[in-house]
Amino acid sequence: MTSRYAEVYGQWRKDPQAFWADAAREIDWIKPPRIVFDPNAGVYGRWFPDATCNTCYNALDRHVKNGRAGQRALVYDSPVTNSQRTYTYGETLDEVATLAAVLQDLGVTKGDRVIVYMPMIAEAVFAMLACARIGAIHSVVFGGFAAKELATRIDDAKPKAIMAASCGIEPGRVVHYKPLLDQAIDLSSSKPSAVMMLQRPQSVASMVAGRDHDWANAVDRAKAAGRTADCVELAATDPLYILYTSGTTGVPKGVVRDNGGHMVALKWTMKNLYGIEPGEAFWAASDVGWVVGHSYIVYAPLLHGATTIVYEGKPIGTPDAGAFWRMISEHRIAALFTAPTAFRAIKKEDPKAEHVARYDLSCMRTLFLAGERADPDTIQWAEDILKKPVLDHWWQTETGWCIAGNPVGLGQLPVKYGSPTVAMPGYDVQIVDEGARPVATGQMGSIVVKMPLPPGALPTLWQNDTRMRESYLDEFPGFYKTADAGFIDEDGYLYIMGRTDDIINVAGHRLSTGGMEEVLSGHPDVAECAVIGIKDALKGEQPCGFVVLKAGVTKPHEMIEKEIVALVREKIGPVAAFKIAICIDRLPKTRSGKILRATMKKIADHDQWAMPATIDDPAILDEIAAALENHGV
Ligand code: COA
Ligand code: AMP
Repeated sequence: MTSRYAEVYGQWRKDPQAFWADAAREIDWIKPPRIVFDPNAGVYGRWFPDATCNTCYNALDRHVKNGRAGQRALVYDSPVTNSQRTYTYGETLDEVATLAAVLQDLGVTKGDRVIVYMPMIAEAVFAMLACARIGAIHSVVFGGFAAKELATRIDDAKPKAIMAASCGIEPGRVVHYKPLLDQAIDLSSSKPSAVMMLQRPQSVASMVAGRDHDWANAVDRAKAAGRTADCVELAATDPLYILYTSGTTGVPKGVVRDNGGHMVALKWTMKNLYGIEPGEAFWAASDVGWVVGHSYIVYAPLLHGATTIVYEGKPIGTPDAGAFWRMISEHRIAALFTAPTAFRAIKKEDPKAEHVARYDLSCMRTLFLAGERADPDTIQWAEDILKKPVLDHWWQTETGWCIAGNPVGLGQLPVKYGSPTVAMPGYDVQIVDEGARPVATGQMGSIVVKMPLPPGALPTLWQNDTRMRESYLDEFPGFYKTADAGFIDEDGYLYIMGRTDDIINVAGHRLSTGGMEEVLSGHPDVAECAVIGIKDALKGEQPCGFVVLKAGVTKPHEMIEKEIVALVREKIGPVAAFKIAICIDRLPKTRSGKILRATMKKIADHDQWAMPATIDDPAILDEIAAALENHGV
């Protein structure tokens, strides 16, 4: 089949408003849009500014009305608790409408924020949709973050309520959420008036009288009373959620997603990008705490009338490297979307892919990868073992959906290893130099997107238009700064080569080295520090921290290094995967005092490096190399 990509992208280029007006017809609006885009509203314009709608209605009610009540909406599969449960669209709607009524009983109304701190269980999805139903703005916090990170998010979002489970389950370890949550609420100046606590048998949380409510009891009571909440009419531009993501400082950015544009964009992607039909099962093996989880575990598959999968497990170790293949065959999954790290982990454990032969994967058509650079070796290995197309695609928390990909629904384009393929409709992607001037084909530069951003991308940061402008719009006037660097080849294929800021990508998780440096500096013995991301065969990158101690510190270096590793785990959380701290005498700097992080990274990665002309004392680089060697890096 020849791809319709060029034709469809051309249609968008010719008339973006007509393109999105057409896509918007796939959504059931309460008041349909007459205005597609208002360039004068908001920070850079707003999509569908006069329309009203409800995202939960489009994800659940309309499918029930249109004959999908008995179809699988959500499959929960949890090897870590050895349990499974399937919810039809009818059952999911009942659960969500009831939970939404419970939230209303707690005083939660339109515009209130609700933090969701939950592991990969069906109730996390119900919680998000219940908020969407009544117009409350959810903010999901990933379970691998520590209390302080949660507290920062509570302080920024100022939630009226928090919905949480008593624990998450990591292989071999129960993560007790409640003590972390209580600590976070203690640390934050904004106090939620209610906590809904889902007690899991693996960890029974102690409850705070007057504030904490038992989830199961509240839902049971509401069901017995036949209480449900109706969908609330919302402006298409009202926020659906806030999702915090790493910024260049320790303070995360609250990415805002609206209701209308988000639905239009995500619905479009299911058929055109992912090639999925309503009724098929789509599995994003991510976590609801990340953007991939928001868009492709919760919203897009349900908006499309597909079946989504909530998997509480890992690619390996739960119980083995065949876990993904079991899931695909057992739940008849048509497409899998995961991070390359997951495949590197499977490859390491089962290099000959012997587990694949144990399962019938004939239902699966495509593997999609995103979240970090997909190295050609991993793609090739995945192609070899699955004998299916393996398609990398590139996106960010900010955009909420794919910027560049290979749209199988429009007809697959040839794969070029190392490239996530081509820009999607909605995105005019360009490569520019520091002066925002286009660079030649094939030449590296900053990747930018011509404004406006398409529907679904962030309209702003939560209550911070200034940071939105400063972070994304000011540096390259007229463009959105992706903070990724790369190039476009002669066929229009895009290559994403790395970040231009201090963000690193560890096991597909986005982390700020600046945030880690703030933690290291907080150690009483540390005078100065630098954190860099170094190559890691499994996780892509891993953080590595260098510290210079204050004069007169006599404690053994080894002890301080252990304390620093523990401190990052305590302040940011296990997800930081911070395992390497190295005490050194001095940091390499330029004559003007800038730390030479890029050169340190090249040394640690055993890449070719040149002596920076502006270096103050070249001998320090030898000291860094020796320190890394001593620590086995
Ligand atoms: N709650 C609490 N802790 C969590 C957590 C969660 N939801 N998720 C991860 N952690 C912990 C892990 O247990 C680990 O703790 P440890 O230091 O005690 O071992 C730590 O955070 C680091 O986790 P991770 O970097 O994920 O490493 P891992 O060794 O546990 O697993 C992989 C490695 C490759 C199996 C895993 O990273 C994976 O499945 N990655 C896929 C990436 C992905 O889905 N990304 C989402 C974007 S698409
Ligand atoms: P996140 O906001 O967590 O989705 O992380 C976004 C960042 O991850 C991007 O800015 C990229 O640096 C990186 N990233 C995501 N997908 C890809 C990809 N397919 N190829 C290369 N880098 C990617």
